[in-house]
Amino acid sequence: MPLVIAIDGPAASGKGTLARRLAQHYGLPHLDTGLLYRSVALTMLDAGFSLDDTDAAARAAETLIADRLADPRLRERAMGEAASRISSVPAVRAALLAWQRSFAGNAVGAVLDGRDIGTVICPDARVKLFVTASAEERARRRHLELTARGEDTTLAMILADVRARDERDANRSAAPLKAAEDAVILDTTELDAEAAFAAAKHVVDGARTQ
Ligand code: DC
Repeated sequence: MPLVIAIDGPAASGKGTLARRLAQHYGLPHLDTGLLYRSVALTMLDAGFSLDDTDAAARAAETLIADRLADPRLRERAMGEAASRISSVPAVRAALLAWQRSFAGNAVGAVLDGRDIGTVICPDARVKLFVTASAEERARRRHLELTARGEDTTLAMILADVRARDERDANRSAAPLKAAEDAVILDTTELDAEAAFAAAKHVVDGARTQ
């Protein structure tokens, strides 16, 4: 039976790091679904469209090019904001759905991380984790990460971003950020990456032996 692991959570909760580690440990392919939304936003900005142009956003999502998912600009702070904006467009979400489902549907299974994996993309995933942490701790981690990459930001700016994104991602009508009813909640505020991985591995191993 394929092992599909769905990982959701707010911005900078540590879900990406956790997803990569679980994928490596279980030998599964990994998809960071935030990159799909970031790539749609980048395609629009590169082509000179306004992020409010919902038709252009839908077209960019329908013609998403997998090779562009490795563009380092996708990781920039501004692109997270831009992705959050276009991700509320239902036609964008609809266009990316099949792409994500086919990734999840391969024979061995997969690890996907995002906002709506356990609720919309893979409602039948064998394991669902909802990874969270306090807004302050998430801002602290994201600030460290961006600073290490050479971006000039302050902790206060990042905390404001994190709060604005939480608000937008959780309150949109199309597939809002929320834990699936059958998700295991993993609060990483007090956990380092190693401890979060150990806790998640415990959940996955438990589900595999059922
Ligand atoms: O995980 P991330 O920070 O790379 O995601 C960027 C934005 O993309 C996020 O603020 C909301 C959107 N997103 C989404 O709506 N659904 C997903 N499955 C993943 C990301």
